[in-house]
Amino acid sequence: MQARSIGDVQVGAIGLGGMPMSIEGRPDEARSVATIQAALDAGVTLIDTADAYHLTATDVGHNETLIARAVAGYGGDTSEVLIATKGGHLRPGDGSWTQNGSPEYLKRACDASLKRLGVEAIGLYQFHRPDPRVPYADSVGAIRDLLEAGKIRQAGISNANPEQIRQANEILGGRLVSVQNQFSPAFRSSEPELELCAELGIAFLPWSPLGGITNAGRLGSRFDVFEQVAQVHGVSPQQVCLAWMLAKAPVVIPIPGSSRPETIRDSVAAADLELSTEEFDRLDAA
Ligand SMILES: NC(=O)c1ccc[n+]([C@@H]2O[C@H](COP(=O)([O-])OP(=O)(O)OC[C@H]3O[C@@H](n4cnc5c(N)ncnc54)[C@H](OP(=O)(O)O)[C@@H]3O)[C@@H](O)[C@H]2O)c1
Repeated sequence: MQARSIGDVQVGAIGLGGMPMSIEGRPDEARSVATIQAALDAGVTLIDTADAYHLTATDVGHNETLIARAVAGYGGDTSEVLIATKGGHLRPGDGSWTQNGSPEYLKRACDASLKRLGVEAIGLYQFHRPDPRVPYADSVGAIRDLLEAGKIRQAGISNANPEQIRQANEILGGRLVSVQNQFSPAFRSSEPELELCAELGIAFLPWSPLGGITNAGRLGSRFDVFEQVAQVHGVSPQQVCLAWMLAKAPVVIPIPGSSRPETIRDSVAAADLELSTEEFDRLDAA
């Protein structure tokens, strides 16, 4: 697979999003492990997770534990695999998502993620979502402290606007390596953040790139142009969607979620799908 950069680390251009394997509707563990290992077989070297990808109040970190176990149990070389996790979001267990961006909480959450991932330093730690009750500079300051303490190797943010991207990069002393925002054919309002990342050379990781767990399968019926281009190439509309994102800028690294080996294999093939300029323009305007 073609490679892209997250800071000084090279990863395959298509990553794996772990969320569908740990929240509502998650499959059994055997299928999840098969999915993660199919991703590794296909050349995926970026796996996105979060401590908040779990279901009940008692299984916090379900996805981190699952991914660590599947990667550890893989027969092949995993030395190049970057597991990117996040802190700052919580799931109390009633289906809701809450936030805590206090520095004390983020440091505790990072320690817990370190344990679950079984590593001395987290390859990429992302501040999950700004907490309106905590000054953004304080939350990002905690991420900087974690970087300086050697608990995380690289720092990223998520759900940030252009002002927050600039502010975080400044607080981190120019060491912000990634921004993870929602971006898909249905949700394009992160274009300014994508463009800013391209300008600053910061990796941009579109989340829910296929429209989210419940809509991903219907991408072709929701967006005609994606279906039409898919038919010309004899591939899925989801593959076309990911190829379109990759073509937008060299900093883009989509992280499609998956809970079946077939879907992640299909998504990875997007890294080899070449779109003509005319196709790109039609998709971009759709
Ligand atoms: N930072 C944040 O706030 C935030 C928020 C949401 C998500 N995320 C991250 O972003 C990742 C991706 O987002 P998402 O999982 O919400 O949504 P998504 O990637 O848009 O959609 C996920 C669904 O797409 C299906 N799929 C994947 N590849 C496919 C293909 N080639 N053909 C057909 N269907 C395909 C999968 O189906 P199967 O399950 O059947 O395999 C999966 O359930 C998450 O897993 C998570 O890591 C971050």
